[in-house]
Amino acid sequence: MKRRTILKSGLAALVLAGVAPYTLSLLGKGGFAGNALAGEFSRPLPIPPLLENLDKSGETAHFSMTVQRGHVEFFPGRTTSSFGYNGNFLGPTIRVRNGQKFRMELNNNLSQTTTLHWHGLHVPAEWDGGPRQPVAPGARWKPEFTIRQEAATLWYHPHAMGLTGEQVYNGLAGLFYIEDDFSDTLDIPGTYGVDDIPLVLQDRRFYSNGQFAYARNMHDVVNGVTGNYFLVNGAMQPTLTVASGLVRLRLLNGSNSSIYTIHFTDQRSFTMIASDGGFLEEPVNLQSIVLSAGERAEVLLDLSDAEAGTKLSLLVDQMGGSRFEAMRIELEGSAGRSFELPGELRKRAPIEQSEATVVRSFTMETMGTGSGMGMGMMGRRLTINGKKMDINRIDEEIQLGSTEIWEISNQAGMMMSMPHSMHLHDVQFQLLSRNGVAPPPHERGRKDTVLIMPGETVRILSRFRDYTGIYMYHCHLLEHEDDGMMGQFEVVG
Ligand code: C2O
Ligand code: CU
Ligand code: CU
Repeated sequence: MKRRTILKSGLAALVLAGVAPYTLSLLGKGGFAGNALAGEFSRPLPIPPLLENLDKSGETAHFSMTVQRGHVEFFPGRTTSSFGYNGNFLGPTIRVRNGQKFRMELNNNLSQTTTLHWHGLHVPAEWDGGPRQPVAPGARWKPEFTIRQEAATLWYHPHAMGLTGEQVYNGLAGLFYIEDDFSDTLDIPGTYGVDDIPLVLQDRRFYSNGQFAYARNMHDVVNGVTGNYFLVNGAMQPTLTVASGLVRLRLLNGSNSSIYTIHFTDQRSFTMIASDGGFLEEPVNLQSIVLSAGERAEVLLDLSDAEAGTKLSLLVDQMGGSRFEAMRIELEGSAGRSFELPGELRKRAPIEQSEATVVRSFTMETMGTGSGMGMGMMGRRLTINGKKMDINRIDEEIQLGSTEIWEISNQAGMMMSMPHSMHLHDVQFQLLSRNGVAPPPHERGRKDTVLIMPGETVRILSRFRDYTGIYMYHCHLLEHEDDGMMGQFEVVG
């Protein structure tokens, strides 16, 4: 550990000299000009298909999916090996209603273990699809439960111990929509793929032979694997064509470890209507929004004043990285109808702080401080409360029916710090404060994932209802999670 340079920038990036070089050179670095081989906005934005309900009556939600190997031609003449659900890359959008019975048959056609986790879903622990529910190669998994949750944009992805990052990187992710009577009544765009557009945002890097460059050296584990090419719904530089009027964009930061600031050309303002767990109480006007890995936002973009032929871009600034022109939006024709944006959205009684009977503290640490560097680097980096994930250990025991405050700190390290993205299974929580200050309006709705910057302390309020069993909490920077920045809570009756 002699030749080591650690730079701590404002964004807390870490640079380690002497990290083993990649076996193949990276595409877009050195020999290649950044996005020279990308699509140049010539291809239409792909819309993931809606997964077909096998119950033709629509009364229950009954689905089947196969997780399989695939390949994609991201660069002409070069094939990238990938994974997908029912296809080559990513998966179909699953749409269910609150109150519906849900059944899924997942077939694992990969040669490795996987799982299928419903991110953001309030679901019995045994069907959560976390590391405790592995699906072996060739095996089938058949979860069955009832949807007990308000309208929201959730998503699904694999969650097998130590394999999440790599499997998501290869293409395993999809959207999961819940609709309900309330969302039916809102006069907002809701036609899937027409004026209600799913946008899975991800970055990738590639080796010069076209394969995904997913490495797990120490630099990548600590910094997360971040890329220099951008994908929207699995396509590089696509164009979305919409009619003028109001368009609803459902944004998912589906990246492994990037934090995105999302905005549009000319800082055009938009209206945020929903966060991770559903509609906000009232719409919030923004010019940009920050989403950490795993977070979602639904926004309305008003294009009624724009003329046909107008082009604008969805821009994504990657924290500590580049600005991407992720997608172009082109107007064609005018929408047949106009919408009345309601002044208020979902009014729900807040979770009261006075309900809370327990306060728990969590410290997320990028690198241990107490010991020598060698120890810190090799043994204690990326911990929660000084511990790494152990599937045989229950970290927190929670009483069924209780409400708790979790105080989560990102301890800025002396040598290095990283932002973390804390995610809880089972619940949709409410943010109480950031560094003691009430959260901004767009973070006052229900959430399941929250960005915590170095030095920051976030307080959240959660109700643990309906289900007992073991669930995960973890950093949603997937390389951190896979390295053990995860714990288990058990809800006991
Ligand atoms: Cu999105 Cu525990 O995961
Ligand atoms: Cu989750
Ligand atoms: Cu983290």
